[in-house]
Amino acid sequence: ECTLTLAIDGPAASGKSVVGREVARRLGIRFLDTGAMYRAITLASIQQGVAADDACKLSSLAACADMRLVTHSNGDRLAEVDASVSAVSAVSGVRTALVAQQRAIASDGSIVMCGRDIGTVVLPDASVKVFLTASAEVRAARRAAEMQQRQETFDTRQVLAALQRRDKIDRERDDSPLRPAADALVICSDHLTIEEVVCQILAEVSQC
Ligand code: C5P
Repeated sequence: ECTLTLAIDGPAASGKSVVGREVARRLGIRFLDTGAMYRAITLASIQQGVAADDACKLSSLAACADMRLVTHSNGDRLAEVDASVSAVSAVSGVRTALVAQQRAIASDGSIVMCGRDIGTVVLPDASVKVFLTASAEVRAARRAAEMQQRQETFDTRQVLAALQRRDKIDRERDDSPLRPAADALVICSDHLTIEEVVCQILAEVSQC
């Protein structure tokens, strides 16, 4: 019996979690959205009044949190969390703590894991690595459509600006910047449906 590990990385709103969850469902394996872990730490930091540049307190927050319990109960798309999650995620002490938990979770068996640094740092030996991208405009339009569906108020330009700001911080940070692994299959979803992306990934999995 062999374990299957899939790493799906990419910028904000590239469709990683919807695609990753579906791929995992069809393969009958687990799915972990690591962005939810960074969001959970960010939400906790806001609730506890910890500043986004207090590396020391943020690191101990991350070291003490048991993410197995909170990955599905975070304040997902809260605007406040969105605004500071990239700063919190740039703190090395936060990453060390969360990456250790991610590797421990992966060691329990087959899994699809999505994030920014899964193929490069967390699971460098993943069976399949995918880097999912889309133009900033397409990603902003998708995020805006989600917000419209939830009847939230939004400004399309602000949604785009917020995505670009987060991507810039994620790409330019020193620790584990967002970039495709050398051996990743790069998929641009600008002109692809979710189903088409899922099928491309499953085809890659069946080859390995
Ligand atoms: O994937 P999502 O957009 O929910 O991630 C939120 C933020 O968490 C990202 O913008 C990034 O700063 C951080 N993150 C990260 N490494 C990961 C997953 C997310 O730094 N593996």
